[in-house]
Amino acid sequence: MQEIAEFFRRAGKTVGFVPTMGFLHEGHVALMLAARDECDVVIASIFVNPTQFLPNEDFEQYPRDFLRDFYICKQAGVDYIFNPSAEEMYGANFKTYVNVDDLSEKLEGKYRPGHFKGVSTVVMKLFNICKPHYSYFGQKDAQQVSVLKKTVKDLNLDTELRICDTIREDNGLAKSSRNTYLSEQQKEDAAVINKSLQSAKEKVLANSFTDAEEVKREMIEMIEIKAGEGSVQYIAVTDNELLNDIEDLKNFKGDVLVSLAVYFGKTRLIDNILFTKK
Ligand code: PAJ
Repeated sequence: MQEIAEFFRRAGKTVGFVPTMGFLHEGHVALMLAARDECDVVIASIFVNPTQFLPNEDFEQYPRDFLRDFYICKQAGVDYIFNPSAEEMYGANFKTYVNVDDLSEKLEGKYRPGHFKGVSTVVMKLFNICKPHYSYFGQKDAQQVSVLKKTVKDLNLDTELRICDTIREDNGLAKSSRNTYLSEQQKEDAAVINKSLQSAKEKVLANSFTDAEEVKREMIEMIEIKAGEGSVQYIAVTDNELLNDIEDLKNFKGDVLVSLAVYFGKTRLIDNILFTKK
């Protein structure tokens, strides 16, 4: 893969890269099409990265279907699929990790300690292997974007991140490989997540909430009608760079990120909305 990428770089071609864990959906395809639009060569990786799953998480169960993914990549105009084994990526004696301090411990990091260390490490490796000029990520995973932007900046990585909007089902549910864990009823009910985010955005922009606690209270009320009491793991109202809590919403100016994790049954879903308060 390194040789192929290097060949195209030397030939003066732009290399675009879309890292994924496979079981592809329209969210992934949107990234591939954006890369196809902008770059001469498009590489996608499919690798369910063991180091970003906690011991009690769904690494084993995570849906995998390479043949299906292969055809989706082909349709989207991907030129190369990088599909390594865990053995190839980590071997028996792997010792070097990338960790973005502080940022990795916030929001998701509180509930998934070690997750972002696994993400920034594997993405760093994938960048070194696929040598992209441009790399494509989804806003769906807002904290992943913040963590990776910081990795690129702090370690002077020679790739530019392109962030694409979240692709949703007709009812507003964010597309996710993990949606296959949901029943039809749960998929319908989970539409409330995006509804609560939209409502939070409208009210924050209209200055009808004075502080973040009010935002959270309303969202929890809306969501827990559908998902059950105690189903909301967290809701955070933060800036979009360092992911610090915004206390005084009324006077805050800049990008506001409202993000959350919710359980529908055993399935943990994350989503967010990003908007600017002037
Ligand atoms: P995965 O969950 O497969 O997602 C791959 C990319 O697709 C990520 O950049 C993610 O944000 C984006 N994506 C997922 N759902 C999306 C949606 N509904 N709309 C737009 N983009 C969406 O994220 C990972 O894999 C891994 O952490 C990875 C970066 C590959 C490192 O292992």
